[in-house]
Amino acid sequence: MADYDVIIIGGGPGGYVCAIRCAQLGLKTACVEGRETLGGTCLNVGCIPSKALLHASHSYHEATHNFAKMGLIGKVLTVDFPKLIDYKDTVIKQNTAGIEFLFKKNKVDWIKGWAKLTAKGEITVGSDVHKAANIVIATGSDSTSLPGVEIDEKMVVSSTGALALSKIPKSMVVIGAGVIGLEMGSVYARLGTEVTVVEYLDHITPGQDAEIAKTLQRSLKKQGLKFILGAAVQSVETLKTKAKVHYKLRKNDSEATLDAEIVLVATGRRPFTDGLGLEAAGVALTKRGQIETQGWKTNIDGIWAIGDVITGPMLAHKAEDEGMAVAETIAGQHGHVNYDVIPGVIYTTPEVASVGATEEMLKEQGISYKVGKFSFMGNGRAKAVFAGEGFVKILADAKTDRILGCHLMGPSAGELIHEICVAMEFGAAAEDIARTCHAHPTFSEAMREAALACGDGAIHA
Ligand code: NAI
Repeated sequence: MADYDVIIIGGGPGGYVCAIRCAQLGLKTACVEGRETLGGTCLNVGCIPSKALLHASHSYHEATHNFAKMGLIGKVLTVDFPKLIDYKDTVIKQNTAGIEFLFKKNKVDWIKGWAKLTAKGEITVGSDVHKAANIVIATGSDSTSLPGVEIDEKMVVSSTGALALSKIPKSMVVIGAGVIGLEMGSVYARLGTEVTVVEYLDHITPGQDAEIAKTLQRSLKKQGLKFILGAAVQSVETLKTKAKVHYKLRKNDSEATLDAEIVLVATGRRPFTDGLGLEAAGVALTKRGQIETQGWKTNIDGIWAIGDVITGPMLAHKAEDEGMAVAETIAGQHGHVNYDVIPGVIYTTPEVASVGATEEMLKEQGISYKVGKFSFMGNGRAKAVFAGEGFVKILADAKTDRILGCHLMGPSAGELIHEICVAMEFGAAAEDIARTCHAHPTFSEAMREAALACGDGAIHA
């Protein structure tokens, strides 16, 4: 007789959401988590703490750059960095404690420790054995490094170390112009660090709409970030007081070095399955080390997997959706995730958000489309708050007007994108957005204007 209907391994956004949904659906549920707090990478060393640092550093930037323009003049602000880090730690505590409360409220048992699959329908945590009819693996991902680059979390740090530096560094080299590199690079650039981003590709933010990527790079450059593109980092040497980054320019193979107090390695993450006993359990992996799944089922009956350990974007909200879908499937319902409508957000200033196809993807697929664009310079609210930089781009089918994708850079982009997500879920046309009354003055009006631009034209363009 099993102890539980479902045991979930991993208490991050995929795992804890799955656990709560299982319990809500009447399944006897436990979640195994070895960290001292629930919430996984996202709440402890990822999304949430980085947003705290982004908020604090953005506020500092506003105060030092825009307050005087509005006649708000006072003493010069300074940064008490240890206090800033304390604020971030408080935010983490509040959020992780919140998940613990939700577990209690929903009667989810938290099994503390690291789980190992030991037999069919059985896991071992320390010396305790637990049995379940269903096991869901939600063990997430871990930072990767490069050959020749050793992360010591002191001078050469991953995102985890970058969230817990002891002081503001004078200089920082960021390896990789992906989401982590640009978000953390922004934080330190705003606090006064000289930040240089070294990126292998000839553009930043791989997979992003090319026009948005270019505009974002221009904006970040204005904010003081330096970029070296088309450069492959070969190794990092740590000396007494600085690190030396060796890179090769791809166009001519020439070699160069950069010195910095701190090097942030932000070259991607890998599925985390260490110590789980997957091989002994016979769970099949892809070539990239992800757990192979079909409808979140692994090749072993009764073992499921979700989130960063399987294929697809490594995003907390994708994992959450999979967590709910798996719970519903186990409970005999019809779990569903629409992988075509998963938004992505970069929390720089201006923010970047996107959903659906990019122009590059549509061209490659030979789909004829139209573009509706609108600049935030034409949005009264944005101009009033110094946020006129950026634009909204809606891509719609040339014949049917159905929305195929949306990409924007501008104020609250990460919130605005959801209007399009809902529209896409309903199979809406750009005209549906264009004919919907939007309150004035709001940033949302820019979404409507871009939709209008897919038809007879935007009004304020
Ligand atoms: P990433 O995959 O987004 O970017 C890594 C970058 O490093 C790429 O542009 C790549 O070309 C570059 N690179 C690789 N090797 C290099 C070398 N030798 N020299 C120079 N550049 C090199 O990875 P990142 O930023 O580490 O993020 C990891 C994951 O976490 C991503 O899946 C991301 O979506 C997710 N994440 C999402 C956030 C959000 O939604 N706001 C925030 C933070 C992370």
